[in-house]
Amino acid sequence: MTSIIIRSPDYFHLHLRDGLVLLDTVTATAMNFSRALIMPNLQPPIINTKDAIEYYYRILNVIPENNNFKPLMALYLSSNTTIEDIILASKTSIIKAIKLYPAGTTTHSNHGIKLTELRQYYPIFQCMAEHNLILCIHGEVPDEEVDIFDREIVFIEKYLKSLINDLPNLKIVFEHITTKDAVDFVINSGPNLSATVTVQHLFSNRNHLFENGLQPHNYCLPILKTEKDRQSLIKAVTSGSSKFFAGTDSAPHAKNKKEVSCGCAGCYTSPVAVALYTEIFDMYNSLDKLQGFLSDNGAKF
Ligand code: NCD
Ligand code: ZN
Repeated sequence: MTSIIIRSPDYFHLHLRDGLVLLDTVTATAMNFSRALIMPNLQPPIINTKDAIEYYYRILNVIPENNNFKPLMALYLSSNTTIEDIILASKTSIIKAIKLYPAGTTTHSNHGIKLTELRQYYPIFQCMAEHNLILCIHGEVPDEEVDIFDREIVFIEKYLKSLINDLPNLKIVFEHITTKDAVDFVINSGPNLSATVTVQHLFSNRNHLFENGLQPHNYCLPILKTEKDRQSLIKAVTSGSSKFFAGTDSAPHAKNKKEVSCGCAGCYTSPVAVALYTEIFDMYNSLDKLQGFLSDNGAKF
């Protein structure tokens, strides 16, 4: 058997949830990862520093003994977010990012912002850039008239291009990218734009949603895309480009919320994510690039 040593894997997009499930989700993550950026889409969401610190301590409480797992926190950008919230957050050592959910795009995004009002948030983004906080974006438009498979490319064209041009000093993570268009856009953008890629988007294409019947556990948002898109993601992550890093978007939902007539979006991959990323890099003879993707690229960004 060949063993692989990966130094301090990071996980820059993770849903741990709260309450009773926290013990399971934290344990599964702490066994595999050194650090993780914890998503704030609880109900109610984690909007300010006080909420984030309280949640941080609830997480710390259930980390297994003798385990060095370190949660990093993100605040949920809402219409109530103020410049003062940003400055206060930047003074903590645990809050590293602000998460932008366009309202209506995904699970618990109802407190998110309206993309048509994006410019109103420019003073906040400017303040984030000055205080070294990263903007993490769920990059899709929520518009019903836009086909669900096109929501990422429409977001790039309508919002991301101008955001990057207008705020060149703001570090942005384009999260869980799913398309060749997004890969090309990230590669051709400057050093302040990076992207995370999930396990499920590397392993599955949209056929896997319907293979041998409807497969609710393959349903996540952004939705799985075509085989051409999947191949493009694999090429990007195995290329060694430092613009791409791991963010599995592990998103647990109770079984009765997944296997039901109207199920929730999200794939729970945390317990197996390192193994599955490793398998993909192995299949494409790129194990030498795995350390960069899992540990170095995100940490440097
Ligand atoms: C996530 C969740 O369940 O919180 N679901 C998902 O399909 N990825 C939310 C998100 O990150 O979009
Ligand atoms: Zn997510």
